[in-house]
Amino acid sequence: MPPEDPSHIEWVPWSELGPEWIDLWGDAPQPEHIEITGQTGSGKTYFLCTILQERAREFGDREILVVTKKADEIFDRLGWPVTDRLEDVKAYRQVIFWPQTDLQGEARDAYIEKRIHDLMTMIWVADSNCVVAFDEIGFVEQLSRRMKKLIGMWWREARSMRIAIVAMKQRPVWVQRDQHSETRWKVVFPPADRADMERFAQLLGKPKEWEPVLDELDEREFVLHHSARRQDVEVQSYVSWIDTELRPLPSQSKQEREPALSTYRKEERHGRRR
Ligand SMILES: Nc1ncnc2c1ncn2[C@@H]1O[C@H](COP(=O)(O)OP(=O)(O)O)[C@@H](O)[C@H]1O
Ligand SMILES: [Mg+2]
Repeated sequence: MPPEDPSHIEWVPWSELGPEWIDLWGDAPQPEHIEITGQTGSGKTYFLCTILQERAREFGDREILVVTKKADEIFDRLGWPVTDRLEDVKAYRQVIFWPQTDLQGEARDAYIEKRIHDLMTMIWVADSNCVVAFDEIGFVEQLSRRMKKLIGMWWREARSMRIAIVAMKQRPVWVQRDQHSETRWKVVFPPADRADMERFAQLLGKPKEWEPVLDELDEREFVLHHSARRQDVEVQSYVSWIDTELRPLPSQSKQEREPALSTYRKEERHGRRR
């Protein structure tokens, strides 16, 4: 089925699709960027945590989940260490980076901006070999002009550093054009508001073809779509829903700190299958 013909889209629960898709996402250590769009409460974070956890189990990838608002219970279910210290980001294979502060207003935003900027600078090295997921990239992007520029550069160049970005957004507005053009995988939950339908459908292709698909989605169902044909494998579009349980991997409940790394780049080059 060509990806541009959404009328025969397959409906597959994640318990069936997930194991196959984790490989399609991309071989370790270089998965592709992903863009996830959906209103609050649609299940974006649950989806994100599920795929990050499956990737950790399958490939043992280094993964950093950047969070800017109060961690919800989903993050507890992931079971990863939560930190805002750069040393910890180096030390743990899978980690949640959450800058926390008692500051408020502009001082708070400035603090968060600096912490995330420092993190992104630290990771930006050749052969970085990591997946960086932003739970709300729209918020991060608007923190400052330099942050907006930095994220634009990440979209264009992160793959050359072997960094894969997973970015979540509530609505497809205010998104840098680079995000749309540089992401091959799109995950789209249905919009709450019909007025948003066309924009959401545009993320996938021709609105006339995709609106009926989005229209049929129930709660927690999403379209998973690859926007370019890949030579190596015939990639399809799917409707799916997460029917698997999110829980920590046995190895993560007591994740060992790795020996101190003098630089981030000392990471081994290839992901390990576990
Ligand atoms: N597939 C799912 N199975 C079980 N619970 C889910 C699923 N998807 C979402 N939830 C729950 O629904 C709520 C909203 O999901 P969440 O991922 O936080 O949405 P979003 O990030 O889009 O705001 C959370 O409490 C989450 O645990
Ligand atoms: Mg969320």
